[in-house]
Amino acid sequence: MSVVILDFGSQYTRLIARRIRELHAYSVILPGKSTVEEITAHDPQAIILSGGPASVLQPGAPQPDEGLFDLNLPILGICYGMQYLVLHFGGRVILTGTREYGRARLIQCGGPLFAGLEDGDLQVWMSHSDAVTELPPGWRGTARTEDNPIAAVESPDGRMFGIQFHPEVVHTPQGKIVLANFLRIAGVVLDWTPSRTLERLLAEVRERTDGGKKRVLLAVSGGVDSSTLALLLTRAGIEHIAVFVDHGLLRAGEGEEVEKLLRPLGVNLVSVDASERFLSALAGIADPEEKRKIIGREFVAVFTEEARVHGPSHFLAQGTLYPDVIESAGSEGSANIKSHHNVGGLPESLGFKLLEPFRYLFKDEVREIARLLDLPEDIRERHPFPGPGLAIRIIGEVTPERLRVLREADSIFISSLKEAGLYDHVWQALAVLTAARSVGVVGDERRYGYILALRAVTSVDGMTADWARLPHDFLDRVASRITRQIPEIGRVVYDITSKPPATIEWE
Ligand code: XMP
Repeated sequence: MSVVILDFGSQYTRLIARRIRELHAYSVILPGKSTVEEITAHDPQAIILSGGPASVLQPGAPQPDEGLFDLNLPILGICYGMQYLVLHFGGRVILTGTREYGRARLIQCGGPLFAGLEDGDLQVWMSHSDAVTELPPGWRGTARTEDNPIAAVESPDGRMFGIQFHPEVVHTPQGKIVLANFLRIAGVVLDWTPSRTLERLLAEVRERTDGGKKRVLLAVSGGVDSSTLALLLTRAGIEHIAVFVDHGLLRAGEGEEVEKLLRPLGVNLVSVDASERFLSALAGIADPEEKRKIIGREFVAVFTEEARVHGPSHFLAQGTLYPDVIESAGSEGSANIKSHHNVGGLPESLGFKLLEPFRYLFKDEVREIARLLDLPEDIRERHPFPGPGLAIRIIGEVTPERLRVLREADSIFISSLKEAGLYDHVWQALAVLTAARSVGVVGDERRYGYILALRAVTSVDGMTADWARLPHDFLDRVASRITRQIPEIGRVVYDITSKPPATIEWE
């Protein structure tokens, strides 16, 4: 059972899905133009029509399959979704030409959708340029703003609602109450809790593997997703082989840590030290995309060899997350930025079936599952780390010497963040060894050393990010430790660029 969110391209669609899940209902995002069959395949209990950048009055404006209304499900239209409902049921929408954008105050809110609001009024976030001027026959207006007499609508049978504002964003502080009211009115079952989710995941992987009899191969990287996946298979009693390819581009100590943490939990871990192979393949290569391709290719080769050595497996398990699924489906309004992050080619070349139990989960939901599976906090709260590892944090050619220098600097930065209690406050922190050198003085001598860049960002999902405002005193301590302990580094700089325009990684 689910709440189906039809996506008309709003930048906030993913937030709607998260909020619904935070309210303990399972939600899925489908493209706005999905057919009724595609929608009913998800066993919906309620439908949400998202906002979107188009005007409903535009020729060719995106529309849901009209058969949707024959399903007789409760519907909530948000912004574009509301305007679509109004137009569809015979009301009037006009193009105002002015975009109502930003904070507004919802007044005279009435009806069950607005039950339980703290003071009856609601601070809301608006982002639209169309306005409803006439209600469909029998419908009633249930809220207004100063500028807009019809800011919320309700159908005669009280099963369909439209709201002009965005309840999913933080700028609508009581928005969650509105969404909770909709779920209550719609009678949506609230059973999406971490423990129920874990039960479902265990049941799913057992069922797909015939009770654990069909063997599963997976790659573990030391990150939270693949480690949790390995533990899930272990807990479900499924025959599996978890291959950990050490490509020699990991952070200091991380390879050993994967061993130390996962093996005692029962994961059937096979570690392969392929660092020499990767480093010689990377020799002389400076172009970042070229480095990625080489690492991807070598990874596939090593993994394939391991798969052959250990005999046939039916499935290849991957820790694909919901945002990756939404992105690779190319849903309206979301760019396909992360395609290069997946290890391409594996399933085809080996003839595996794919097992991706986390394909409907967000990262924080995986972390919850990890907690229930007793994954040590060290891995659970670990910052994301790119598949190509430190290779894309060394500008230019990767050499053993540069790797050593970067590893030492990175280790000082990360351990300092942990000591200062700042590690959990940033989404991702990293050090980059630039190709530039600069002049400095040590004692009476001039020194020509590497410029090292430190980067720390805050983010919700890595798609956008802000540079972390780390305390100056802290940065000062880190810079002195690095230059004192690593003579090859002559200068430390801090990256103060957000994403966009910059990416999180430097290459
Ligand atoms: P960017 O640098 O694109 O990174 O802002 C967004 C997130 O993705 C990670 N990243 C990668 N992960 N292979 C990966 O597995 C890659 O090639 C890659 N490039 C970037 C990055 O660390 C950040 O978390």
